[in-house]
Amino acid sequence: MMNTQVIFCLTLALFVSGAHMATISIKNNCPFTIWPGTLTGGGGAQLSTTGFELGSTQTRSIDVSAPWTGRFWARTQCSTASGRFTCQTADCGSGQVTCNGAGAAPPASLVEFTIAANNGQDFYDVSLVDGFNLPVSVTPQGGSGPTCITSSCSANVNSVCPSELAVKGSDGSTIACKSACAALNQPQYCCTGAFNKPETCPPTNYSKIFKDQCPQAYSYAYDDQTSTFSCTGQVTCNCAGAAPPASLVEFTIAANNGQDTYDLSLVDGFNLPVSVTPQGGSSPTCITSSCSANVNSVCPSELAVKGSDGSTIACKSASATLNQPQYCCTGAFNTPET
Ligand SMILES: *[C@@H]1O[C@H](CO)[C@@H](O)[C@H](O)[C@H]1NC(C)=O
Repeated sequence: MMNTQVIFCLTLALFVSGAHMATISIKNNCPFTIWPGTLTGGGGAQLSTTGFELGSTQTRSIDVSAPWTGRFWARTQCSTASGRFTCQTADCGSGQVTCNGAGAAPPASLVEFTIAANNGQDFYDVSLVDGFNLPVSVTPQGGSGPTCITSSCSANVNSVCPSELAVKGSDGSTIACKSACAALNQPQYCCTGAFNKPETCPPTNYSKIFKDQCPQAYSYAYDDQTSTFSCTGQVTCNCAGAAPPASLVEFTIAANNGQDTYDLSLVDGFNLPVSVTPQGGSSPTCITSSCSANVNSVCPSELAVKGSDGSTIACKSASATLNQPQYCCTGAFNTPET
C-alpha cells in the first residue's frame, strides 16, 4: 500500500502506506473553507474522523488500517443554524461536522479507495457518477505500477453544467452539477432496466460533458476502465526480517553519546558484500568494518543457493543447511569454548 494525497480544488489528497497502514493526506487548495467527509464501505469500521473543517491551504492526514475500502468528498458552504450543521453541497445529513457513517448527498465529486492488506494492489479513482461539486486530484506517494500516477478532475464542471443539471447557490451561481441519472431519472442515464449492462449503457450526451471536462474521472456507472488507477505496495519490509541467507549489518546505538556497537554478520549466511563506516565518534575499533569478498564465488555446493541462471546468488550458513550441533552451537557445543 502507499500513501496518498487528495487535493480539493486541485488540491484534495495524497496517500502513502506501509503494510498495515496507509496515510491519506487531504489538502484544501480552494480559496475557501471546505469540510471533507469520509465513509468506510463494506461494513468496516469508520475512520478516526468522518468529517472535519479544513481551511484554505490546510492539510490533514488520516491513517487508514489496511485493508480498507471507502470514499472521501468535500462539503462546501456549510453553516450551523438552530444547532444543526448543514452544507450547500455534498451534505451528509448528520447535522454535525462529522458524518458518522453517512455518505454525501449528490451531487458530490468522490474519491474512492480500495487499499489492500499486505502491500497488495491499491485502487483509487475520482468518480463523478454522483455528480460534481469540486475539482479534486489524487496523488500516490510510493507504490509502483503503470497507472500509479496522479488521477485528477481539475476542471470546474460547474462552469459548463447544463441548466437542467445545475444546482444553484443563494447567489444564483452554479455550485454543483447533478448527474443526468439523478436529475432526469431515466434508465439510459442510470444504466438500469434494459440499460443495466456495460454493453447496453453507452456514454450519453450528458456523461460526455463530464468526461470531456475530466477524462480521468468516472463519468457514469459503466464508464470505461481508463478511470481506475492502482499502485502496488512499497518495497518496505514492515517489521519482517530477511529470510536467510542474508548478509546482515547489526547496530546497537546507545543513548546519551554512549558506546555504539556494530558488526557485519554472516551467521545467517551471505548474499552481498557490505561495509559499514562510522562518521564521527572515536575508539580503537571505531573503523570501517567490511566483508568485501564475494563469498558466493567460493560457496561449497551444499550451501549454495542457485539463481534461475544457475549461478550462486547466496551462500547459506552451515547451521541452516546441515543442522548439526557443531555448526549451530547447540547441545554440547553451546558455549564459545566448546
Ligand atoms: C441530450 O439528449 C437528449 C435526448 O436527445 C436531449 O433532450 C437533451 O437536450 C440533450 N442534452 C444536451 C445537454 O445535449
